[in-house]
Amino acid sequence: MTGDVVTTERLIVRPPEEADRARFVQLFSDHDFMVFYPETLTEEQAQARFDHMTDVCRTIPFGKQPVVERASGRVIGYTGVDHIEVEGRDWLEWGYRLVPDVRGLGYATEASLALLAKARETYVGELLAIIDPENIASQQVCRKLGFTYWKQGPVDGEVRNLYTLTLGKD
Ligand SMILES: CC(C)(COP(=O)(O)OP(=O)(O)OC[C@H]1O[C@@H](n2cnc3c(N)ncnc32)[C@H](O)[C@@H]1OP(=O)(O)O)[C@@H](O)C(=O)NCCC(=O)NCCS
Repeated sequence: MTGDVVTTERLIVRPPEEADRARFVQLFSDHDFMVFYPETLTEEQAQARFDHMTDVCRTIPFGKQPVVERASGRVIGYTGVDHIEVEGRDWLEWGYRLVPDVRGLGYATEASLALLAKARETYVGELLAIIDPENIASQQVCRKLGFTYWKQGPVDGEVRNLYTLTLGKD
């Protein structure tokens, strides 16, 4: 476990543990946390989403995983990848999400850059980011991570801005 933990000045990014379940079920069911997501999850869907997060992290060291604020010890969100099929192709999609009271502090960039450094140790290939065109903050973050705009396209019937980042080419 210790080797899996990424520590930054203000944050810890680490794989999910069973003890995180209640926190994430609460977050996935919370409208404010899930803003810019098609729906707030039911308790059952939130439980399944936590199981999925745990499963992905068993095989991908940079799967979507908890971000912990060191000053408070609180789990404040997540960053990392999940599998997704877009335009008939399997992708690793990078995403991040923080509780409202810690947005605007640069945490998403700090956590994601640290986990991206870990990703570069094991992964060569493309990453995809899928963002609502109205979500300016998220697009700012993804550019700061090195993603570049690819195109606009439909994802689950909604128009989304698609960004890509290729690891292993620097
Ligand atoms: C998107 C999110 C992860 C960004 O994380 P963050 O740590 O708050 O990001 P930052 O503090 O680095 O702010 C990002 C940038 O957006 C800007 N910004 C923040 N809110 C903004 C808003 N409502 N409108 C325009 N710009 C905004 C900030 O000024 C900052 O600009 P900079 O890059 O020039 O410094 C966070 O806001 C969040 O969790 N939002 C809800 C969930 C979400 O949208 N997830 C992404 C789905 S694709």
